[in-house]
Amino acid sequence: MRIFVISCLLFFAAVPAAAQDNISGVWATDLSTGDGNILRAYLDLKQSGDQITGDFWYDINRRPVSKGTVANGKFHIEFILWQDTPPPIGICDGVVQGDKLRLTVNLLQDVVAKGVATRTTPDALALPARLPLPALHDLPDNGLARTPPMGWDSWNHFQQRVDDITVRGMVDALVSSGMRDAGYTYVNIDDTWQGPRDSQGNITNNLKFPNMKGLADYIHSKGFKVGLYSSPGPNTCEGYLGSYGHEEQDAKTYAAWGVDYFKYDWCCAGRIYQDSDMRAVYQKMSDALRSTGRPIVFSLCQYGKDDSWKWGAKVGGNLWRTTGDITDDWKHMAANGFRTLEIASYAQPGHWNDPDILEIGNGGMTNEEYRTHMSLWSILAAPLLAGNDLRTMSEETKAILLNTEVIAIDQDPLGLPAKKISDHDDLTVAARPLKNKTWAVGLFNRSTAPAKMSVAWSDLGLHGKLYVRDLWAHKDLGRIADQFTIEVPSHGVVLITVRR
Ligand code: GLA
Repeated sequence: MRIFVISCLLFFAAVPAAAQDNISGVWATDLSTGDGNILRAYLDLKQSGDQITGDFWYDINRRPVSKGTVANGKFHIEFILWQDTPPPIGICDGVVQGDKLRLTVNLLQDVVAKGVATRTTPDALALPARLPLPALHDLPDNGLARTPPMGWDSWNHFQQRVDDITVRGMVDALVSSGMRDAGYTYVNIDDTWQGPRDSQGNITNNLKFPNMKGLADYIHSKGFKVGLYSSPGPNTCEGYLGSYGHEEQDAKTYAAWGVDYFKYDWCCAGRIYQDSDMRAVYQKMSDALRSTGRPIVFSLCQYGKDDSWKWGAKVGGNLWRTTGDITDDWKHMAANGFRTLEIASYAQPGHWNDPDILEIGNGGMTNEEYRTHMSLWSILAAPLLAGNDLRTMSEETKAILLNTEVIAIDQDPLGLPAKKISDHDDLTVAARPLKNKTWAVGLFNRSTAPAKMSVAWSDLGLHGKLYVRDLWAHKDLGRIADQFTIEVPSHGVVLITVRR
């Protein structure tokens, strides 16, 4: 018994680096992220003494090694995940075992992937061949999303921690909170649901989602619609499998599962295609979705590259991102929202500007700022996709997400776009014409001190005494002549409707 234990230990013990020639060269590995997802990764290393340089590759992106050391058969590599200041760092710790490297890789806060790497040749690092793209043609309106989509999306709060149980919990919370009845009907599962492809090339779900069809049936049974996510690249932004080369096959799978809303995220497609190919790339998937015969809302996620608002509708996009990712802070939320105000005129029934998923209730902003967030998205006719944990939200968060008067602005059936009325010294007034000759007006104070703000009726093409209602105070302010003036708190909003 003792001999057996010792021999096992010897077998698994690290072989000192000295006994190895060198770990320089290209190594390939299938990293398991523990949820059934397999991440193909490569290490392209150069060892000089105890120092390692080179690149760590995954999702077809090269991540330069920022620090690498090897000693006694163990190595430690740090690599830059993407350029930022400071750059987020991935860590790969490994042991040299004969002609293999046993690896543990920390990609982002919560993603720990494990695998064994074997030597391969540098050709393995070549990008997949660029597939031909269809000729451009204008797609007719698919008749969906007559008002901006409303619902919940898993990404902002849960990121890769989303799973079947969590999604079911959100469905139940949408019902019990009253959000479903207020119009939040899409339940969108964002990145990290995917498993490997099966032997026929069909995409499968990973262990976090044991039965995607079963989950979709549950979501439908409670009166909701199902949203799912992929990328036109070989991988998604989190390195899970994308739809590259499998567009039609994947569209059929989604339709068979009962998907009603599909978000298509550019991610590493940019390593294969040019930005100017985007229109054809999105059109390809749009055609594939349509040929399933299932009505599916199509959400273009490409961070506003190549002025997506100018062609998004032509490729059958029901919404398109206008900016980079939102984060749960004033600066990013305001940047996304007010940048979208500049192109607000592109919003129309069936085709909406998308400044990203809501951060309301995620904790990084004040309630004042979250009211501004909700008001701005509504004035913009932007999708209202809650991005928080609905099971534990506070009464204040509920009051913001469930302000039915603000939701009514967002969902106004005319779907007319917002206009910027005035903008100076961080004080922005935006207005949107609504049904029944009513206007919604948002007085947004982006500055760091309270400020008096005004809107003149003549700016709206109106005059005389008009009825004013404050939608956050839930109060009629009576008939007011010529103009409306009020003090607005820093980072706050006063949102009113104005009518004859
Ligand atoms: C991108 C998108 C996000 C989210 C993540 C998922 O960053 O812009 O909305 O879908 O990918 O990886």
